[in-house]
Formats: sequence, structure tokens, C-alpha cells
Amino acid sequence: MDLTFKALMNYVSRLSGVDLSRYRESYLKRRVELRMKILGFQTFEQYLRYLRLNGHDEVKRLIDTITINVTEFMRDKTPFEYFMKVILPTIAEKKRKVGSNILRFWSAGCSCGEEPYSIAICTLEALGRGWNLSIYATDIDEKCLEIAKEGFYRASQLKNLRADIVRKYFDKEEDGYRVKRFLKRYIRFKKHDLTTEKPVSRYFDVIFCRNVMIYFSEKQKVKVVQDFYDALVDGGYLIIGKSETLPMGFKDKFECVSLKEKVYRKISLKSMDYLIHS
Ligand SMILES: C[S@@+](CC[C@H](N)C(=O)[O-])C[C@H]1O[C@@H](n2cnc3c(N)ncnc32)[C@H](O)[C@@H]1O
Repeated sequence: MDLTFKALMNYVSRLSGVDLSRYRESYLKRRVELRMKILGFQTFEQYLRYLRLNGHDEVKRLIDTITINVTEFMRDKTPFEYFMKVILPTIAEKKRKVGSNILRFWSAGCSCGEEPYSIAICTLEALGRGWNLSIYATDIDEKCLEIAKEGFYRASQLKNLRADIVRKYFDKEEDGYRVKRFLKRYIRFKKHDLTTEKPVSRYFDVIFCRNVMIYFSEKQKVKVVQDFYDALVDGGYLIIGKSETLPMGFKDKFECVSLKEKVYRKISLKSMDYLIHS
């Protein structure tokens, strides 16, 4: 790593308390260069000097740029349609067979809440209210989690939702929309770093981790995907972002059920055992 860039990263880490070593260097450089472009700096040296003078404010802006939280309700739409039309009915049938009404989902890297609220809406629309539904929603960014708990969004963030769905799940306020209280009750928001911490819980039926791993190194991806494997029930689903791929070494752990929607299903080791020994 170039020395000035290293000094810059150390300075930002020290001031913000955020461990930047978990991000790829190429990614960090791109995000830093974005801030430099906005401010009109040509070199890391100039930017570092500016950071030292402007301290906290610019460090905060840079951290926000690094942990970008771009998202929206039903982002990309079709994975959510697949979730409603294929995944949820399949899970519901399995659960009915064993007399269970428990549904457990995890939105890992939930940003400001749009994804977990979308998951809750899809589930209620597809299966109705007779289920014991809990959705864990985690992110590394505390500011985002505060917004998520508030559940207040501008109209533009709801553009993928039909008007009747907005009426059913949101209260209109003067300058935006607030998620109705009954919907919030299904979701537990929690600060969690996917790259350093253990899974928040276990026995999930579905894990969404969309547009998060793009920022991780291959080694971090392996750690995170292994955690997801451990945290899923046998046959549980993992849904990743459309431009993402699973790291190497998971072919015998996940089967791809929709390449287009990037949906994977956990292969249980027990069933592998059975296949090998029968
Ligand atoms: C682009 S958003 C994706 C939001 C949503 N999943 C979606 O697909 O629209 C990426 C999110 O990942 C979070 N994130 C980045 N690094 C993380 C980490 N190490 N652990 C947990 N969340 C992380 C960011 O804070 C951000 O909210």
C-alpha cells in the first residue's frame, strides 16, 4: 500500500473508530478518490492535509462514502417477486407439513431498513398474517439503523411499491411516509459487523445479503458465507445481490436455485452423507 494512502487510512480509522482493514484497498481508493474529486484535490497528500485541518466533519463524510447505504424498497423487484411466488410458498408448505408456523429471516446489511420492511410486506402479502414471523435486520452503520427504526421515508424511496401497498403499510405524513407500527413489530434491528462477528442468531429460513459483499475481500466473503451456511436451516435460502457471486469452495454447500435472481439453497451435510454412504 502506498505510504501516504496508508497514513490516510490510519488517520481515518483512528479518528472514526471504524476498522477499515476489512475493505479491499482498491475499493477504499475509489471511495477516497470520489471525495477528492468533489473537493478538487489531485493527490492523497493534499487530501490528508485537508483532513488534518478539517478533522471530524470530513472524516465522517468519507466514512459515509465508504459504507454507502444506497437502497430502496423492493430493490431490483424481481428477486422479491421470486421470494413471494416461489420461496415463500415452498417454505410455507414445508412448515405446514411439520406443524410449524415459525418463519425466521435475516436481512444482513439492511442499510436504512428498506430491505427488511420489504421482506415483511412480501411475507404478509404472500402468506397472510397467521405466521409467527421474525426478521433480524443488521448493519454496521448505526446512523442507518436509527433511520431504519424510525421507519420514515420520502415518497421517492417508495417508488417500487403499488399505491395500495403504500396505503396498507405506511401512514402518510406531511413530507413522507412512516411504516405502520404493526409492520415494525416483526423486525429486530441490531448493529452487527458481518466480517468480524458471529451470526446474530441461527435457524434462519432465508438470509438476504444483497449488495453488501461487493465491498469484501475474498477471504471475508468466505467467512461471511460460511457463517450464513451455519446460520441457515437445512434447505434454507441465501439471496445475494444480482452482480455478486459466492466465493470459491461452496459448491457442495449451496445449490443454485435461480441464477437470474441469485438464489441459493443450503445443502445439508447430512443428506450428502446419506448420498455418499447409500
Ligand atoms: C448498498 S447497501 C445494501 C442494502 C440492501 N441490502 C440492498 O441490497 O439494497 C450496503 C450496506 O452494507 C453495509 N455494510 C458494509 N459493510 C458491512 C459490514 N462489514 N457488516 C455489516 N454491514 C455492512 C453498509 O453499511 C450498507 O448499509
